[in-house]
Amino acid sequence: MTEENRARAPKTENNGVWHLQLAPGDIPPYVILPGAPERTEVIARGWQDAQLVANNREFRTVKGVFEGVPLATVSTGIGGPSSEICLNELSKVGVHTCIRVGTTGCIQPDYDLGDLIIAVAAVRKDGTSDTYIGPEYPAYADPVVVMALMAACEKLGYRYGLGLDYTTASFYIGQARPIKEDGTGYHPSDMDKLIDDLTQAGVTNIEMETAAQYVVGRLHGLRMGAVLAVISNRVTDRWGDEGGEEKAVKAATEALRILADWDQKKRIEFNAAYSGA
Ligand code: URA
Repeated sequence: MTEENRARAPKTENNGVWHLQLAPGDIPPYVILPGAPERTEVIARGWQDAQLVANNREFRTVKGVFEGVPLATVSTGIGGPSSEICLNELSKVGVHTCIRVGTTGCIQPDYDLGDLIIAVAAVRKDGTSDTYIGPEYPAYADPVVVMALMAACEKLGYRYGLGLDYTTASFYIGQARPIKEDGTGYHPSDMDKLIDDLTQAGVTNIEMETAAQYVVGRLHGLRMGAVLAVISNRVTDRWGDEGGEEKAVKAATEALRILADWDQKKRIEFNAAYSGA
């Protein structure tokens, strides 16, 4: 440990951020955020000059160039706490725009496995964002990032919806899955009503990161968005990728290319989240 290291903001020996092991300027400001480290290689497969930049715990960073635009991908791990670490440290190394790619359980019957959901906003049951700010504060995507994701999905011809996401800190009980497949074991009574109540309230999907990332990212001055592949349908009880993850990756990559183009042309002059307001 270097002599000047401080508990309130630990740094690596080359003055980098502690968990991601990146120094300012190591990666471009446009970043795709998968949960799983191994997804970073899949995401960067179509990029030129793709190179591994850092690899520590659940945080793997790869950078490269897509159609002339420098991009990076950094894995967040599962859930809010590791997402919070990732976004804090990305903001310290010069990143300004992040798009989460992941999978989600859908709770509306009209979505098929493999469809995409662009999460416009998210219900904050993530358990991390409330360490930053009270529950009245909304978790919502940067509107310009949503526009870019829509433009990307339209261009690529993907079936997608604009979703109201529900983010929870649990995959099993918190998503109304029984602890054991046969239904025995701990089973809180309100679990039986969860999916039905959320469906009635117009919630589209359930997953584990988006609300935490939207709130924490915004409070760090980052533009945030998320495109999620429907891998399960909790109403019809089906599970399967059906090419959705690959589509989500392509949509996020194209959306970042579009955003870089808009930024360069100053197409969107004012963006409150981005300018730190
Ligand atoms: N991710 C989740 O958190 N839940 C699902 O059902 C699918 C993916």
